[in-house]
Amino acid sequence: MDGDRSGHWEAVYSTKRESDVSWFQQDPATSLALMASAGATAASSVIDIGGGASRLVDALLARGYDDVTVLDLSAAALATVRRRLGPDGDSFQGIVADITTWRPRRRYDVWHDRAAFHFLTDAAERAAYVAALRAALPPDGHAVIATFALDGPERCSGLPVTRYDGESLAAVLGDDFERLETVAHSHVTPWGAPQSFQFSLFRRV
Ligand SMILES: C[S@@+](CC[C@H](N)C(=O)[O-])C[C@H]1O[C@@H](n2cnc3c(N)ncnc32)[C@H](O)[C@@H]1O
Repeated sequence: MDGDRSGHWEAVYSTKRESDVSWFQQDPATSLALMASAGATAASSVIDIGGGASRLVDALLARGYDDVTVLDLSAAALATVRRRLGPDGDSFQGIVADITTWRPRRRYDVWHDRAAFHFLTDAAERAAYVAALRAALPPDGHAVIATFALDGPERCSGLPVTRYDGESLAAVLGDDFERLETVAHSHVTPWGAPQSFQFSLFRRV
């Protein structure tokens, strides 16, 4: 694991409140809409890559999903989610890992990633991410991957990012993934700044 990267995110989640970060989102509506478009139901298993303290897990549990995993570099982020969920805090699996070195031990119906992949600015790390994605998704499994769009910010949390449109993201994922849909989304930060995202839905061929 890259210690600097891990330290960065652990410091972010240990020192900032949930709504003090640019990516805070009360309602993960675009993610949920694309998951519905993929045919996901409460019976689907879902993994949220770089889920941080996102409220996606809350929304899934509220909809009856009972096989939800959140993977993140930061243990503090996962602790925030558990605290927020209270008695439901044990209802999801938390994995503290770097996605570029993590090897899945099982498969998931749905892979979700909002604003983690775009931090991988190195081709070898992107290839490692795609290898994990390929290992984790069975044929007909779906992935929702959201990144800053081509006209989005060049940095996030002070770190450089790579920006994508649906086509360039599909090119990185390769032929094993069919792009079904790309949605443009303007995220508004807690302090009112718009950020241009793309959300793409893929099917594992
Ligand atoms: C911009 S935040 C987005 C958090 C969450 N997906 C959301 O929508 O609120 C990026 C997240 O990716 C995580 N992350 C960054 N690089 C990662 C990596 N290599 N492996 C796992 N998680 C990573 C960070 O800890 C952070 O929680």
